[in-house]
Amino acid sequence: MQAESPYIAAERRPIRQLDAAAANRIAAGEVVERPASAVKELVENALDAGARRIEIAYADGGKRLIRVSDDGWGIPAGELALALSRHATSKLDGDDLVNIASFGFRGEALPSLGAVARLTVTSRAAGSAEAASVTVRGGVEGPARPAARARGTLVEVEGLFAATPARLKFLRTDRAEAQAIGEVVRRLAMTAPAVAFTLRDVSDPDAPRETLRLEAETGDLFDGLRGRLRAVLGPEFVENAVKVAAERDGVRLTGLAGLPSYSRGAAVAQHFTVNGRPVRDRLLIGALRAAYHDLMARDRHPAAALDVGLPAAEVDVNVHPAKAEVRFREPGLVRGLVIGALKAALAEAGVRAATTHGVGMLGAFRPEERRPGPAMLAAARAWQAPARGFAEPGGAPIGLSAPPAPAPDPTFDTAPAADDMAAPLGAARAQVHDAYIIAQTTDGIVIVDQHAAHERLVYERLKAERAGGRAPSQMLLIPEVVEMDAGACARVAAEAETLTTLGLVVEPFGPGAICLRETPAALGEVDGRRLLADVADALAEGADGVGARIDAVLSRMACHGSVRAGRRMGHAEMDALLRAIEATPFSGTCNHGRPTFIALKLADIERLFGRR
Ligand SMILES: Nc1ncnc2c1ncn2[C@@H]1O[C@H](COP(=O)(O)OP(=O)(O)OP(=O)(O)O)[C@@H](O)[C@H]1O
Ligand SMILES: [Mg+2]
Repeated sequence: MQAESPYIAAERRPIRQLDAAAANRIAAGEVVERPASAVKELVENALDAGARRIEIAYADGGKRLIRVSDDGWGIPAGELALALSRHATSKLDGDDLVNIASFGFRGEALPSLGAVARLTVTSRAAGSAEAASVTVRGGVEGPARPAARARGTLVEVEGLFAATPARLKFLRTDRAEAQAIGEVVRRLAMTAPAVAFTLRDVSDPDAPRETLRLEAETGDLFDGLRGRLRAVLGPEFVENAVKVAAERDGVRLTGLAGLPSYSRGAAVAQHFTVNGRPVRDRLLIGALRAAYHDLMARDRHPAAALDVGLPAAEVDVNVHPAKAEVRFREPGLVRGLVIGALKAALAEAGVRAATTHGVGMLGAFRPEERRPGPAMLAAARAWQAPARGFAEPGGAPIGLSAPPAPAPDPTFDTAPAADDMAAPLGAARAQVHDAYIIAQTTDGIVIVDQHAAHERLVYERLKAERAGGRAPSQMLLIPEVVEMDAGACARVAAEAETLTTLGLVVEPFGPGAICLRETPAALGEVDGRRLLADVADALAEGADGVGARIDAVLSRMACHGSVRAGRRMGHAEMDALLRAIEATPFSGTCNHGRPTFIALKLADIERLFGRR
């Protein structure tokens, strides 16, 4: 029968069982998408086998050859054939799909590779006198033969997708595929600092090119992680990140989170693992964004390398063909932990945030030193461990319960210590251009952007006051009637109740006006008309959720309270501002992610003048 339309099936055909080769090829389609996915499976197998050293080589972007060699516990000769057959695995105990502690669990990777390439596995199991080797070609397995090899396993994949030209066509250039292989290896290497890795391009066998070499990291969890991340991501991230170690209800968050001032233009530096398995998880990415949202401009993205550790039963890893996604049993708990732990860690690090800017600034002065040299980084690091125990890079785990520092009074009427050079931000020495405070520390100078710093202080104070119930307000002697367009008036009127809790008391006043009665005390004297117009704008930005709207309003209001640029300050007032910055969480950056101060070591200044 002729189909009436190409969209209507033409005829029914009998159901028949697919043969093993076809079934394997279909399964392989999901597991092995490109050379990099083959490398991922093989490196994961090596890690699952307890390897300490993994050597990876590829030719022509992995299309011609992929070779992964490890020194793990190997596969006994008698189990080699089984390793290559489908649904055969040593990693699952019976039918328990709950307690999965390894990368692998399906017994799919090797048979899939055998279905789409020529696959040779050579292995010598721990304790066995000799090695054995098996080759699979087009899904057909050859006999096991004795082979020569030291302990461990070597897997070779030749002519990937050679038999499936349709797939081959979808591969990108050798260069692009090689780059994807490099990314996969670096990503997995980040999860295993104690394992050494090498990656080589052997396209030209006479001139192999080593593209990555990672020595095994020794040292404890964080030292190892820092060392590996430094090698994989470069030193800047590690120098500009805080340690995160928190636990709530059996869920742990461990790793490094970038300072807000070390933001990126895209979400490219966000590396999450769940129980050591690299994942791309929307929940985790969303929680990361939420943790930073009022520390960074909207178009900037935080950097982080974090592991969520939780009992295997609390997470389902069997929801994605390449295991790149997971499902949490209690997503709310995980999200809360990530946000809470990151906020606590960043609050603790507040005063540290601007260090790199000082270092980066040196680069700007001296073009030949764009990247911070080791000496400068050492100087920056030294400064990061200030005498008074603010940020402690190597300190105790940061608890979730750490109370936020009390919001200091931005009117600075407290008497400052006489000459506090030992304090992290030092003693105020001068104000220049009515905008910057120059302070002297025991071994350097600090330049504070008084407006940016004050804005952060006012913002944190407003937030703290609101968290404590209702922010104190100041009644206007004469209520001010502010005319705005009808839309703005409606938005403000609709949120009148919420605004009251922020210390802003308003009433609708006809269709095109709002009557302003009280303003937040923390702002001091303000221009009510401009304040209200800005609040209406903040509400129009339409951030999702009341919480986000409130933050947007607070952030706008803080700008109004920060009148300190262009204002001359007395000595005591400057010192008080410095002390307040030190005592305020997140004070290293203003609400827009710009640094509030910059620190320069004396050694760096001397270097600028060529004295060193
Ligand atoms: N490098 C290796 N060292 C030791 N044993 C290995 C190695 N590679 C594979 N094996 C053995 O072969 C078995 C099959 O490997 P395969 O990758 O196909 O499946 P898996 O790792 O168990 O599960 P998955 O399909 O989820 O990766 C493994 O369970 C393991 O016992
Ligand atoms: Mg596997």
